[in-house]
Amino acid sequence: MKTEIIKIDANNIDLNKIRYAAEVIKSGRLVAFPTETVYGLGANALNEKAVNNIFKAKGRPSDNPLILHVSELSHCDKIGRDIHEDVFMLMNSFWPGPLTLVVKKTEAVPDNVSAGLNTVGIRMPSHPVALELIKHANIPVAAPSANRSGRPSPTMAEHVIEDLYGHVDLIIDSGDCNIGVESTVLDTTSDPFMILRPGGVTLEQINELIKDVNIDPTLLTSKMEGLAPKAPGMKYTHYAPKAEVIIVKGEELAVAKKINELIQENKTKGKNIGILLTDETKKYYNEVECISLGSKENLNIVASNLFGALRSFDEKKVDIILAEAVEETGIGLAIMNRMTKAAGYNVLTV
Ligand code: TXA
Ligand code: MG
Repeated sequence: MKTEIIKIDANNIDLNKIRYAAEVIKSGRLVAFPTETVYGLGANALNEKAVNNIFKAKGRPSDNPLILHVSELSHCDKIGRDIHEDVFMLMNSFWPGPLTLVVKKTEAVPDNVSAGLNTVGIRMPSHPVALELIKHANIPVAAPSANRSGRPSPTMAEHVIEDLYGHVDLIIDSGDCNIGVESTVLDTTSDPFMILRPGGVTLEQINELIKDVNIDPTLLTSKMEGLAPKAPGMKYTHYAPKAEVIIVKGEELAVAKKINELIQENKTKGKNIGILLTDETKKYYNEVECISLGSKENLNIVASNLFGALRSFDEKKVDIILAEAVEETGIGLAIMNRMTKAAGYNVLTV
């Protein structure tokens, strides 16, 4: 398939280009577009065949449902039903933004979108290019992250090109995504509501409006035995770079000591080692490939750099990535969830 790439400046949007991209979506073809979280791979959500092509392009298992993206609240009535009154409060507070709300679906939503579930995840992204695109297409846009299934999510157009060039019709390049981890997925059909995937909107932010919110227990455990994750997508290997990833968790000096031991051990095995760390801890390591995600004091920046760093280690042909854990509060919960999955739950506590 021929893939076309166009650039759209998010600060000075060329509406002719948006209209063009909207036509591509409306005609049942695939368009990768930027959102504030990660790039999405969009198709007309109400067109079963177009939705099927998303699964094919990504190599995505068909039992993993897609999120529907809307540009206005009125679209929700068409695709969701029996929506809890607190959900409207969440929409008012966090939309447009990185919060996906799982609600009961209507018949208008094809079964392949929701992977046969009777619910559907809906979100209104805040990225101006995404909003204009959806508005001009005037349909709900189904969009998973625009990576090959299992790879780290794309936070810049180059990542999308790397994974999907030749498999999609159009890629819109609008530079970097500023949040860099995906939306929070909140199931509002359970009582109390339950976070199925931590993301751009934090538990603490949701708790300011709704006190009683559960967290899917599989998000925080390193052992999944006997526990089935509620968001079907969370059970698959995810965010995985080609290298093996080991996370080391604990007090700063103890972590540095453990990582240095692992460096020595793996060096003697002839392995190429990469360290994923923060600005504060760079000083502990010499003569190894290090990538800093930013300062521990600003976990939003750490989040925005994570997926790109995992991809760069691949380019550097690293065999093993030793990663420092971060605090599991605020956006840190989403960071640790993605890192833990990238590591295949390989976490050493020291
Ligand atoms: O930030 C984001 O959410 C990005 C951008 C493009 O919007 N999209 C994204 O989509 O991350 P995807 O498909 O990569 O991840 C969607 C997650 C999966 O874990 C999926 O299982 C879960 O949301 N999900 C979707 N619909 C669901 C539903 N009806 N019930 C439970 N989980 C659902
Ligand atoms: Mg994804």
